[in-house]
Amino acid sequence: MTPTKAGCKLPKMAKQIYLDYAAATPLDPKVLLAMQPYFSNQFYNPSATYEPAREVQKALLNARKTVAHWLGARSSEIIFTAGGTEANNLAIHGILRQYPAANIVVSGIEHESVLKPAENYNYRVVKLKPDGRIDLDDLHKQLTEQTVLVSVMQANNEIGTIQPLREIASLINKQRQKRRAKPQALPLYFHTDAAQAANYLDLHVARLGVDMMTINGGKIYGPKQSGALYVKAGIKLRPLVQGGGQERGQRSGTENVAAIIGLAVALNQTQTIRHQEAARLSQLQQACWTRIAADLPTAAVNGSIKYRLPNNIHLTLAGQDNERLLIELDERGILAAAGSACSASEQIPSHVLRAIGLSDSAARASLRLSMGRGTTKSMIDQCLNVLKQLA
Ligand SMILES: Cc1ncc(COP(=O)(O)O)c(C=O)c1O
Repeated sequence: MTPTKAGCKLPKMAKQIYLDYAAATPLDPKVLLAMQPYFSNQFYNPSATYEPAREVQKALLNARKTVAHWLGARSSEIIFTAGGTEANNLAIHGILRQYPAANIVVSGIEHESVLKPAENYNYRVVKLKPDGRIDLDDLHKQLTEQTVLVSVMQANNEIGTIQPLREIASLINKQRQKRRAKPQALPLYFHTDAAQAANYLDLHVARLGVDMMTINGGKIYGPKQSGALYVKAGIKLRPLVQGGGQERGQRSGTENVAAIIGLAVALNQTQTIRHQEAARLSQLQQACWTRIAADLPTAAVNGSIKYRLPNNIHLTLAGQDNERLLIELDERGILAAAGSACSASEQIPSHVLRAIGLSDSAARASLRLSMGRGTTKSMIDQCLNVLKQLA
């Protein structure tokens, strides 16, 4: 195990330099320890009535409280899901299926798990500025009386850009006020996908002004296929999964107790150390910008420098082929990505890079290095040394 400054032991990765934390994070050992009993002697169905099952039910309640705490929410406002994709699907289908004639407004750089569900309905896409931040004037234009849901991610998975959620919320509030005088007016909700944000940003839903929020365990050193959707009290969703009525009827199926416990411990740990980790990674990021300017003069950084997750480095290396670069890096034990895991497997230029105005050839020359708890300055230096040789 390798101790890091964040005080957390991570599994040793045999001489590899892992720079793909935006795709997957290793399980925090504290999370693994907390989950283990629920695979063995604490296996009971939490809905059963006998004493040991009631203990499991209590553990679930505590997990729900923990997640609610970090979001500034009530326990009853948390729905556990199997990951971020399901939480995003539940938010979108859960609202739009009730208002099939209405529309949903999304930003052009949302994750596919927001874009694909939105495509089932009347959907409107808000433009981005070249730095990856949402164009608020365009958002204003896209909001119509028929809009029931706006979904804008808190931070982007490819370029790390942080969106101005409070400003978006205030535009949405103005639209709500206009509707107040009209008796037949539709409701208007604001959802954010915080899958990539939860390691570094404040998730307090009231401060951010959101009505729904997606949390993803697999990105916060918790188990994959664990997640949650915060849904503000009073908002009704049409469930995607019906059955035994678990999760207040909004997501049936016997609870994945170990995953839920793991998600709560992971969120608690990552939010507890977030200021410290953000400061540490920001320093690495700064050092990286300085070295790139000196050693890779043809490289361009994509996305806002100011409004950016501290773990994200996204570059276009003009004239390069990112597939070749990734193979060369891989051969030297450096694991990075060209974009999101999904667009990588489809081998099509990323919709995110297109949405911020990059040409297909620039998108094909782009790389994402995403840092995390195990990343050190020497790892970043080694990666940049290799890129300098290759580019
Ligand atoms: C911003 C964002 N939202 C949602 C997801 C979907 O998460 P999962 O595939 O774990 O369900 C991801 C995964 O990369 C993501 O980065």
